[in-house]
Amino acid sequence: MDEKTTILFVTSNSGKLSEAKIALNPFGFNVQAFQFSEENPVIEEIQASELRIVAADKLRKAVSIVQDSTKNLGVMVEDAGFFLDEFNGFPGVYSSYVHKSLGINGVLRTLNGIENRKASFKCVIGIHLDGEEIFFEGECKGLVSEKALGTNGFGYDPIFIPNDGDGSTFAQMTSEQKQFFSHRGMAMESLRAHLEGRIQSPTSNHGSES
Ligand code: IMP
Repeated sequence: MDEKTTILFVTSNSGKLSEAKIALNPFGFNVQAFQFSEENPVIEEIQASELRIVAADKLRKAVSIVQDSTKNLGVMVEDAGFFLDEFNGFPGVYSSYVHKSLGINGVLRTLNGIENRKASFKCVIGIHLDGEEIFFEGECKGLVSEKALGTNGFGYDPIFIPNDGDGSTFAQMTSEQKQFFSHRGMAMESLRAHLEGRIQSPTSNHGSES
């Protein structure tokens, strides 16, 4: 395998990993999971007001634990959140904590009797490429379902119905279908276009995309 086509994805979330592979591998970019070790068991996430700040911090930590970040094409991280319209975006950057403490059934109970079920997913991908840190963002708007449906995906997928779909939750879709609508699919698509642009004009000045 050519290491210069390999993107080392520093994540412990197998759902995110498989979605990144689906988005990038068919285009010749080989997404590989970074192997956490006893020495580097996890990346601690900071609590901040914006996904972008969390992603930037994660990226710095990721680059510092990857032994030789220049060996691969890039080192990548991602941070995502689930935003409820009725609660001014909460849980947003607290999505992980809310998922662990309330769970999706707790979120459904919180919305019981509330008419506004609008929600969105947002994600920020950070990638370290040739010494540069570049960020790509994606958003998917939709509704919170009345009940949890479907067994695919992860996290809040069973309770999220994207606006542009056929009424299915993300968890009722295959990963490929989810990718078509999702926040992550959108951000990965921008990353892919950027990487292809770099290959075509390797010497041009590439700034942050978002
Ligand atoms: P993280 O901090 O980016 O890992 O994600 C925050 C929370 O959002 C976690 O509970 C994830 O399971 C959840 N989450 C992130 N992305 C998705 C997604 O694509 N679908 C459903 N839940 C997600």
